[in-house]
Amino acid sequence: MAPANRQLAPFLLSLFLIYTTQFTTAVPQFLLIPDDGVLEQSVITTLLSGPLSGQDLLLVTDDHTQRLLDLNQVMEAAGASLTPVFLATQHSLLHTPRPAHHTKGTLLTALLLFYQDPTDFLLLLADNTNWNPSYLVLFCLNPNLNTTTVLSQPVVQRSHFILLLHPSVQADRHRIYAYTSLPMQVSGRGRPLTKAPMGLWTQHNFHTRQSLFQPRFQNFGGYVVKVTVLCYDEPFLYFGGKDGCQGVNVDALHILGDKLGFKFILSFSDQLAWGYKENGTWKGILGILKYEEKDLSINSVQTNPERASDFDNIYPYWETNFSFMLMRPPPLPQWRNILYPFSTLMWGLVFTLVLVVPSLLAYLLYRINGIADPIGIALKIAGAIVNQSSSCEVQDTWARVWLMCWWLSVYILSSVFTGTMVAVLTVPAFSSRINTVNELAASNIK
Ligand SMILES: *[C@@H]1O[C@H](CO)[C@@H](O)[C@H](O)[C@H]1NC(C)=O
Ligand SMILES: *[C@@H]1O[C@H](CO)[C@@H](O)[C@H](O)[C@H]1NC(C)=O
Ligand SMILES: *[C@@H]1O[C@H](CO)[C@@H](O)[C@H](O)[C@H]1NC(C)=O
Repeated sequence: MAPANRQLAPFLLSLFLIYTTQFTTAVPQFLLIPDDGVLEQSVITTLLSGPLSGQDLLLVTDDHTQRLLDLNQVMEAAGASLTPVFLATQHSLLHTPRPAHHTKGTLLTALLLFYQDPTDFLLLLADNTNWNPSYLVLFCLNPNLNTTTVLSQPVVQRSHFILLLHPSVQADRHRIYAYTSLPMQVSGRGRPLTKAPMGLWTQHNFHTRQSLFQPRFQNFGGYVVKVTVLCYDEPFLYFGGKDGCQGVNVDALHILGDKLGFKFILSFSDQLAWGYKENGTWKGILGILKYEEKDLSINSVQTNPERASDFDNIYPYWETNFSFMLMRPPPLPQWRNILYPFSTLMWGLVFTLVLVVPSLLAYLLYRINGIADPIGIALKIAGAIVNQSSSCEVQDTWARVWLMCWWLSVYILSSVFTGTMVAVLTVPAFSSRINTVNELAASNIK
């Protein structure tokens, strides 16, 4: 028995260990929040029926929050306050395409509910250039999570306004505190205010949108903004001055810096291009802005859908129009005026008509009625095209109808020719000119 026991002991011990580790990882997560998230649930419901109501809301949950919270009750609160809610899980947000207005916009609030550490999710979300809700609410349901790390994520800082709600459990008192993020500022003791306290959550303290979302960039605390600049952009930017580059845009940056408390250094681009995408990579100053850790570009850059989707612009302050100019060609030579009334195809048809119709009629009359001199008759009939009258008499009804149709056509043709002729003699004719961009593209102008 003894040897068997000795073998069994480590086995039992390892079973026990597996049991306890599973127990400690799985169960305490639900014990950490007292009341099973009732307080959190009521805060969300209050937010949706109060300060967050009315504007579009994207609600993103992780697996644990779905089990902790009663989302139906949350949706009921939203429905009662007429708030349009788009629902997503972290997984579906990353992997299912959705319309841009679900993830970015100045009228969009994104409410991220999470229990587990969302760092991995946020790192993946950072790749989505369509992620930029103006208002971001982070609701952390786990009192033990380090939310400073969450707030320092660049994708979180993308949002204009940030509110963090975080529960704290101390001596069995379960309360929720509100924070924002002021990454450019330090506290009185010189600590960074990445997580800046806004006080204890009460319904009374945070009953309006303004009280929830405090301005984050009223002061940049002396931050040095790294600016990439292409100094060939008169009158906005040109070489000279104490910064090496001067102009309206540099002046504007000085004024803004004085007001908002930031300094800046200009670094000059060696790439003479504004910015275009090549094989999925940005080139030019937009490429430098994206890949070389710069904060800002102050060149005047035309926006297009591609640039607007990857970069944030200020409002447009300058508009230029493109125009194409061509030399006016000389008028077409006068002697050819006689040909202009009809196109080449039309001339071809007229000649065919004049050849075929009278000769066919004369031939048929010759065969059926045996008339003499069919060629003379054909010439007389054809003469109608140049307004010549003729005195040929036909008796058969079919031949009369034939002649009537012929004279009518000839009458119309000669009237059109004469009328157009008067027009081209009055106004000189020009070769056709380029009027649209499509025609320009189709032309062989280099
Ligand atoms: C949270 O993380 C930050 C760094 O991201 C660290 O400086 C801070 O000490 C952490 N806080 C706690 C309570 O662990
Ligand atoms: C873009 O990628 C294609 C194929 O990967 C390659 O043939 C082409 O040379 C690339 N263009 C540039 C400008 O790098
Ligand atoms: C550009 O064209 C638009 C439309 O023709 C016009 O309204 C606008 O005034 C033009 N802008 C400039 C700067 O010429």
